[in-house]
Amino acid sequence: EGEYLIVRDGFVEDISPVLPEKYTGITPVELGRGVLIPAFSDLHIHASQYAQRGIGMDRLLFDWLDTYTFPQEARFADPEYARAMYDAVTLAMLKCGTFHASIFTTIHRAACDYLFERVSSLGMQAYIGKVNMDRSSPDFLRESTAESLAETEAFVSSHMGGPRVKPILTPRFAPTCSEPLMKGLGEIAARYHVGLQTHLVESPAEAEAAKNWAPGYACDAQIYEKCGLLDHGPVIFAHVIFPEERDLEIIREYGAVTVHCPEATTNIIAGIMKAERLMSIENVPIALGSDVGGGSSPAVYRQAALAVQLSKQREFYFPEESGHLTFAQAFGMATLTGGSVFDRTGSLAPGYRFDALVLDGLEDPAAPLTPLERLERFCYCGSDANIVKRYIDGNEIVLEG
Ligand code: GUN
Ligand code: FE
Repeated sequence: EGEYLIVRDGFVEDISPVLPEKYTGITPVELGRGVLIPAFSDLHIHASQYAQRGIGMDRLLFDWLDTYTFPQEARFADPEYARAMYDAVTLAMLKCGTFHASIFTTIHRAACDYLFERVSSLGMQAYIGKVNMDRSSPDFLRESTAESLAETEAFVSSHMGGPRVKPILTPRFAPTCSEPLMKGLGEIAARYHVGLQTHLVESPAEAEAAKNWAPGYACDAQIYEKCGLLDHGPVIFAHVIFPEERDLEIIREYGAVTVHCPEATTNIIAGIMKAERLMSIENVPIALGSDVGGGSSPAVYRQAALAVQLSKQREFYFPEESGHLTFAQAFGMATLTGGSVFDRTGSLAPGYRFDALVLDGLEDPAAPLTPLERLERFCYCGSDANIVKRYIDGNEIVLEG
């Protein structure tokens, strides 16, 4: 408070207690009681599941996938359905201050191409993946191995060179992908230099399935390592709730980022990530994800509050394991750590892009709060209406509708 943040050509140039002399004559934007924060990064969201948010949440993962998710994702074969849903979810993301995201779509390339264009036109930074599924999937949502590889290569090769939005390989998770598919994806990774996003040891059933996936693989992360998927771009592993020591070694060795999705965890998965232990003791970077539609809202700020809440549950039940997250740690996961897979975003320190939000309306009339308290209140009980300004690359954006 009482400071000037100077933005030049879209980047933060300086933060200063006085307006530097060279800028006299410029009228600064006054924020009053507003709180200026970096915009959020959602490192795990299924844009294709926005239509099913908040539905079927009394099921566990595999049941939820079979009953709701797979039939709903199959509808993305229809370009009109895809267009309507992808328009809606991207607008919802901007509303809640998510300007950077790592996004799952479905197996359908045409729909995926549309999302790519849409996200690009909105000025967001993103990784977008065409999902691969060639086994243990229903007939209406399964590709042949050859088709899955060909469509993925066509998707990746037609979107190279985008500076802000990039393709990323997205085998759904080990159970729905064969070994030949995974190895073929490894070749595409090497040929086009693309990264990987997937679900890793999200449930005990998935961790077990990974061990029996094919001969010669000791754990879930080793599948991606041995198939050559960890060498060519960011590696984003969602959930990581039931890792073995070898999974963690691989994560550290390849500089992978893990993604905690607190709401999805409580909705469809029987487990809580050891977030505080992984971060403070095991040296594993953790970002946040909404995991819509496992999570019901794309608001990453809510995930920051939930991450603290869940870590306190975990500490209560396993006090010997570690402590709980602080709010500052959780906010760092939502911004700085999530932003680390994108280009110079996730902080308002000099040198970062000015991708920012202004929060307001968080105080009671006679009870002023510090900026940090206002931010914490926003994450716990604020809403999109408390975001009164949005900037991408230094430009204020005004949303349709
Ligand atoms: N594992 C495989 N597919 C999915 C999915 O769509 N959502 C979540 N949360 N986990 C998965
Ligand atoms: Fe997911």
